Parts: sequence; C-alpha cells; structure tokens
Amino acid sequence: MAEQIITNQAESTARITAERYISTEYMLRERESVWSKVWLLAGLSQDVAEPGDFFVFDLEPESIIVSRSEAGDLKAFYNVCQHRGARLLTTDRGCMESYTCPYHAWRFRNDGTLDHVPDTDRFSQGTPVDKLSLKELRITDWAGMIWVCMDPDAPSLEEFLGPIQAMVEPYRPEDMRLLEDQTVHLDCNWKAVFDNFGELYHVEHIHPQHELIFDCPTAVNELFDLGHTRVLIDGFTVNSRLPIPEEVPPTMWAQMDVLGMDRDDYKGRVLDVRRDVQIKKREQGPSLGYNYDKLTDAQLSDIVQYNVFPNSILVLQPEEFWILRTRPHATDPNKCYWDKLSLRMPPSKEVADSGNISFNLDQDSLPENWERPEHDEFTQDDIIAGDKTMTITIDQDIHFIRDVQKGMHSRGFNEAWLNDDEARVQHFHDWMDRYMA
Ligand code: FES
Ligand SMILES: [Fe+2]
Repeated sequence: MAEQIITNQAESTARITAERYISTEYMLRERESVWSKVWLLAGLSQDVAEPGDFFVFDLEPESIIVSRSEAGDLKAFYNVCQHRGARLLTTDRGCMESYTCPYHAWRFRNDGTLDHVPDTDRFSQGTPVDKLSLKELRITDWAGMIWVCMDPDAPSLEEFLGPIQAMVEPYRPEDMRLLEDQTVHLDCNWKAVFDNFGELYHVEHIHPQHELIFDCPTAVNELFDLGHTRVLIDGFTVNSRLPIPEEVPPTMWAQMDVLGMDRDDYKGRVLDVRRDVQIKKREQGPSLGYNYDKLTDAQLSDIVQYNVFPNSILVLQPEEFWILRTRPHATDPNKCYWDKLSLRMPPSKEVADSGNISFNLDQDSLPENWERPEHDEFTQDDIIAGDKTMTITIDQDIHFIRDVQKGMHSRGFNEAWLNDDEARVQHFHDWMDRYMA
C-alpha cells in the first residue's frame, strides 16, 4: 500500500531540463517506462453504465476500447483487429452488441470474443471464430471513473492511488453528472501543461480574478508516494497578501444569496464569509438538496486538487467536479491533448421537483433534463481567438503554454529553478525520473 507523505518539500532529485519536453527519444521511452506501467483515468463510469455501452480512450499511439459486455462485465481492449491490425472502432462512444472491423468485416462481441468472419471456409489453417479475442488490459471502476492499466504486474489501482481514494470518496463523484466534455489540441508537451497545474505560483500573475475568491498564498501542498500530489486552497475568501476589501466581492454573491447570506452584513469583515458559508451549508444542505454528511467544514467552502500521476487532475468541490487530463501526441513531443470533463452534483429529487434548485444554476444537470453532452474538440487557436472557452482561468493558462514550449527549444534554457511553491512540480518530475530509470 502506498504511504501518505505529508510534506511540502520535494526530494529535489530530478533536474528538469528541456530534453524531457522536446526529445522524441524521451517521448518513446515514456511509452515503455511510464504509460504502459501505470493506472490511467480512461473515462467515466456513466458512459458504460448499460450492457453494450462503450467508449474509446485514445492514448496515442494506443487506442483502448472500454466496454460493458452483454453479461454486464466491464472490459478494456486494445482497439485493434486481430486479423491484420486495423483500428476496430473509429467512433468515440456508443452502444453496440458487437464491433465489426471496417476492413474485412471480422466481428467481435462486446466481451471481446470473435464471433464472425466472412468466408470462414477459406481458412485452411482453421477458422479463427471463437479462437481469437481482442487483447484485454486491466480495468477498474472507482468513484464514477474508469481506470485502465496495460501492465499485468503493476499493483492494483487501490495500491496505486493509496490514500487518495479515501480522501476523494466523501465528495461522491460517482453521483455527479457530466455537463461538458472538451478536448483542446495544445502546442506543448503533455508535461508542460501538467506542470502548469502543479503550482499556484503563477496564479497572482496570470489569473488576477482568483484573488477575490481564493487564498492561494496560504494553499497547502501535499506530496504522496508514487508521484501523486494535492493542494488545498481556502475558498470564499480573498488573497491574504493583498489589502482585504471592505465589501464582499461579486464572485461570492451568487452562492451567498442561495445560502440566505446578506452581503451587507459582511462589510468590513469579508474574512468571516468562509466560516459562515460552512455553517450555512451544514444547516441548509438537506433543504437545498445536497448531502454534505461526509464532508468536513473546510471541504464545504474550499477547493482541493489531486494531481494523479502521471496525467490526471481531479478538482473537487462539494457541488462540482472537474477532471483535467493531458494525453501525449503519437509522434510529436511538442504537442498534446488536454481534456476537461465538468461534472455537477444534481440536487435531490424532492428539491429538484420543488423547483428550489439552489447551486445548480445549470438546469441541464437536473435528472429530467440531463443528456450526455457531445464531445467538443478544438484547437488552442480557437481558444486564443475567443471562439472556444474552457473557463477564463484555463484559457489564460492555454495562452501561455505554447510560449513555454517554445522556450524549451532555446539554447538559452538549461533547466528549471523552482520555488518552494512548485514542490508538486518537482515531486512529479522526481517520480517521472524513477519510472524512466
Ligand atoms: S483487419 Fe480487421 S477484418 Fe481485416
Ligand atoms: Fe493557471
């Protein structure tokens, strides 16, 4: 079992040089040493709830089918036909009893077994039907998320995640509904964007809006075994380094209104809002349709982010859950994919029926309105042009990230020199080095 390490000091063994962001040779070694050795967040359990449901998780150059078989078993297969290696599925999601290869029409059941080949009498070495199957990999369903692992000898997901499982479960992510499913193509290495989400040092400089809702300078970094980290950030407060405003900032008004808190009562005592939000949520949770029983007071007001090695980020609040994930490009270390899945906790049915929707300002998450959103895929330029958004904060990050990747190619850059607040970045790279060794 992985041990919990509560510290904000990384071991600082890894030298974070440009090579790891730009070298093709390094990228190829990552496939052998990292991607094929760890558990990876493939997608959501709600997408494979019923027999026949499937989705495709691309981790280039691999593509993986996650399926719920007719018998109700959860399966993961490499998305490759056992005839001559064609990609079997080219759609990213759906519901089918079997998968027919587009090349010569071999057909596999959704449990992976081969059930039909054309011209079966023309195989003088014997028919492959019921002899061949899709190649399976390990799969586990935890907290509403599907995890896969290519390594048959790797420890279980439970061992891999260690203490993180028990920390995430009180948020009940499995009860939340997907409201938005986005992917942007970025012109940077997958680790460059993951690093960006491993530190808050940049927040004061590129996300000025955060100073009126979070207190990033007092955030607590925690480093866990196997390269995972988390950061705890106080919410419903302001940046404690800056002058405390006299009035409650507008960023807090909507939720305070829902909780029946009068912002005029907090004139001159803005720092009391956080504590009172906790009290009000505790008092009013049931009547607002939310079950906060398993959450601590701090969890009612604050935000917590888990960076799960090597490429997934879970951002949790009581009513909202984001999954951020980076995936490598098949051939170019200067490119990657960045996914954002936004989920929301629907209110209890009684409260939803009464029309008292409270935090769920988005009516789409109500059970009767909910439909699985389409996957939206776009480029970094679409974000820079303002045609697409992944929230203002992530858009701001995306504006910067391509220039960081450009810098990695300069003769003038040798290696990173990190601040203590970037301990999570250091810890991630320390573990990259361990896997790569
Ligand atoms: S490669 Fe799939 S049927 Fe030939
Ligand atoms: Fe950022």
